[in-house]
Amino acid sequence: MRCAAAAAAVALLAAVMSVSVVLHAGARRPLAKPPRAAALQKTDTWPPTPQAKGGANLTAILTLDGPLAFRTFLGYLQQTNLVEVFQNQACLTDPGITIFVPVDKAFAAVKPSVLSGLSSLQLKNLMMCHSLAKHYELADFEGLSRIGPVTTFAGGLYTVDVTYDAGTVHVRSRWADAKIVGSVSVEAPMAIYELDRVLLPAALFHIQPPVAAITDGDVPVPRRRR
Ligand SMILES: *[C@@H]1O[C@H](CO)[C@@H](O)[C@H](O)[C@H]1NC(C)=O
Repeated sequence: MRCAAAAAAVALLAAVMSVSVVLHAGARRPLAKPPRAAALQKTDTWPPTPQAKGGANLTAILTLDGPLAFRTFLGYLQQTNLVEVFQNQACLTDPGITIFVPVDKAFAAVKPSVLSGLSSLQLKNLMMCHSLAKHYELADFEGLSRIGPVTTFAGGLYTVDVTYDAGTVHVRSRWADAKIVGSVSVEAPMAIYELDRVLLPAALFHIQPPVAAITDGDVPVPRRRR
């Protein structure tokens, strides 16, 4: 009896000690900053809906991801009748589509007169230049960064420069340097990435460069007036 109890006590003590060793080892481990690429990939498997394969629903994806984070871009897509165009490029063509979606905050940082001054055709081209007529995974951007200007879905006049730097992907247009800050949905045939800036291509803004079109620094989140 005593022997068994002593053995149990020893086993318990050993268990407690090994737990405390693990805890201490954990406590001493320096806090490593998560690599940027890992942060980018955190939503790679979103959305977990059966729709995602083959028939991704752009409207549903842009509506559901986050609290209205992509509402402005989706609104412009609907206004310019591009939802179906993008959807068809994804589902009815082999290459599929890649869409760079600026967050609402990015649109809020553009002076209202810059976008409201565009004709509906220009607005359509602006939206289409946020898209590439091929499905690209995040890892593909490193290769894309080596081939120079990339033609967008808006055509040859509307190119972007993709650069890949230590896991951060930049998408540059003439007047805006945007970064991919998240993957919204990457499953073929429709890849959707979140941008922190609205692209402002030279083809649209060459006559009147939108100097100070983008407000400097972080834009405070608009607060609802009480
Ligand atoms: C896509 O999603 C939207 C919003 O959830 C819905 O209204 C629409 O019917 C869907 N379209 C298709 C083709 O499933």
